[in-house]
Amino acid sequence: MKSAFVLLAFLALSQGLLRIPLMRGKSARQLLEERGLFEEYRKKFPYNPAAKFLPRNEQSAVPMTFDPDITYYGEIGVGTPPQFFKVLFDTGSSDLWVPSMSCTSTNSGCDHAKFNSSASSTFQAGTKPFYIMYNSGFAAGSTGYDTIKLSDLYVEHQFFGLTETEAVFMMSVPWDGILGLAFPGMSLEGGPPIFDNMWNQGKIPQNMFSMYLSSSVEGSVLILGGTDPSYYTGSIKWIPLFRATNFWNIHIQSINIDGNTVACSASCEAIVDSGTSVIIGSGQDINNINGWLGASTDQYGDAVVSCSNTNLLPDIVFNINGYSFALPPSAYVMKSASGCRTGFAPGPWILGEVFMRQFYTAFDISNNMVGFAQAA
Ligand SMILES: *[C@@H]1O[C@H](CO)[C@@H](O)[C@H](O)[C@H]1NC(C)=O
Repeated sequence: MKSAFVLLAFLALSQGLLRIPLMRGKSARQLLEERGLFEEYRKKFPYNPAAKFLPRNEQSAVPMTFDPDITYYGEIGVGTPPQFFKVLFDTGSSDLWVPSMSCTSTNSGCDHAKFNSSASSTFQAGTKPFYIMYNSGFAAGSTGYDTIKLSDLYVEHQFFGLTETEAVFMMSVPWDGILGLAFPGMSLEGGPPIFDNMWNQGKIPQNMFSMYLSSSVEGSVLILGGTDPSYYTGSIKWIPLFRATNFWNIHIQSINIDGNTVACSASCEAIVDSGTSVIIGSGQDINNINGWLGASTDQYGDAVVSCSNTNLLPDIVFNINGYSFALPPSAYVMKSASGCRTGFAPGPWILGEVFMRQFYTAFDISNNMVGFAQAA
């Protein structure tokens, strides 16, 4: 009887959840490699994973860097009636932006869906400008407020940016804009991030969201308002955040290979970021991990391994809040037309998609915690 009640309660709760399907598109690396342009782009737009995490007072603009391996996106509607955009759901930033009609085709970075504010009955112009900073400079846009549709849910009067120019590398990313899911401390002045509005407007049953990132083209999902056990096995291991005002910050106690501590021997501060493709870490620690994997460095600084026998490489074990999360080579070796790379690159510690594909991730705002469970 009791278990029937629990089951009913569980069904009721999981039915209140909204699921936004995420697609896994071709990465910019794949697209550019196919066209023989990757080398040129990589030289012009070197990847700087630290760019988006600099303290806001050190910069006047929203930073962007060219992460060539980002692949996941989902659809949102902007305005009334909704105009649809593919966005990167990014737990490493807090702003929402899409390209505007003023982003003309003479600017090839703008080769994406564009928002026509005149066609939306609910659009209100903002007064503040919007900046997106690229490695190669920064581009200005405008701001506004409108209704945002996510699945069957409508968030009203959401502040967002409308870009007017975009760097050339944006042409090859699989999404049109970005929807930030980090904390208000990182958002532009002018309005709360969309998740805060969603919660404050009573649209979701719990102040949390979760993500399942599949290795396949289809099957990935962003779940608004809770967690869904059909996407993981075992239980969710919860980890308290620190400084939960800007990013999803956690402490990694250590990283082991075959029982040896190979990184974070005195613990590390890391950001859980769905908008970074790989795992980033301090140079010396990352060199050490890549050394254990027998990787060599190519001309772009990527750590490359032979594609044969990658299954013989060791698990890399992340010790976090007393739990062990083992990342097998099937998760951290990334294959593209040019060969195999390890998913470990230098920079500030970031657990990106390489980690999140292996571990379903829950982002709990009420309790300031992140949860990881073995992805189903
Ligand atoms: C933008 O929307 C308005 C109002 O619906 C329409 O008249 C105009 O043609 C649209 N602009 C473009 C470029 O589609």
